Amino acid sequence: MSIQDNFRLAMRRYIYSVSIMSNKDNADNPNAITVSSVTSISMDPPSLLICINKSSRIHNSIELESKFCINLLNNKQEDLSNICSDEDMYDQRFKDENWNLDGIPFLKNAQANIFCKVDKLTSYHTHTIVIGLVEDANYADEISTLTYVDGEYK
Ligand SMILES: Cc1cc2nc3c(=O)[nH]c(=O)nc-3n(C[C@H](O)[C@H](O)[C@H](O)COP(=O)(O)O)c2cc1C
Repeated sequence: MSIQDNFRLAMRRYIYSVSIMSNKDNADNPNAITVSSVTSISMDPPSLLICINKSSRIHNSIELESKFCINLLNNKQEDLSNICSDEDMYDQRFKDENWNLDGIPFLKNAQANIFCKVDKLTSYHTHTIVIGLVEDANYADEISTLTYVDGEYK
């Protein structure tokens, strides 16, 4: 087996929390993508990072100083995760009635919403590492986070 195969199988043993990153492009069109690569960086300043594939639709709308939201999904939002990770279901991404699209798009019924401004972009081969400065955050009291392990939701 190649290094890549072994690495992939090793990474499949991690338990991931599933989020949707959402934003608007310069023409005010909303974008959303399912992500598991969200990691907090520091509390001072409050900051996080996400790794975004350069081939994804949202990628080119992520510019320095632009705003986005990380919506941590709950365990009843598997369908939404599938919709936002399947290019064939692109037209369904904002059909859910719980989206608030007035400003930065966010899911009203997510486990948490973390609102950020892009502070740094670092290109790394196929991906861009997006560092977000946290501007606001809220959360649901009950913890029922959607998790993903070995290619399946748990
Ligand atoms: C659980 C899960 C986690 C994912 N995490 C990431 C991620 O962190 N970064 C990324 O670029 N794509 C990630 N993807 C893949 C994208 O969601 C998927 O390729 C999506 O279709 C790309 O958006 P597009 O269809 O608008 O181009 C993940 C997919 C799943 C199912």
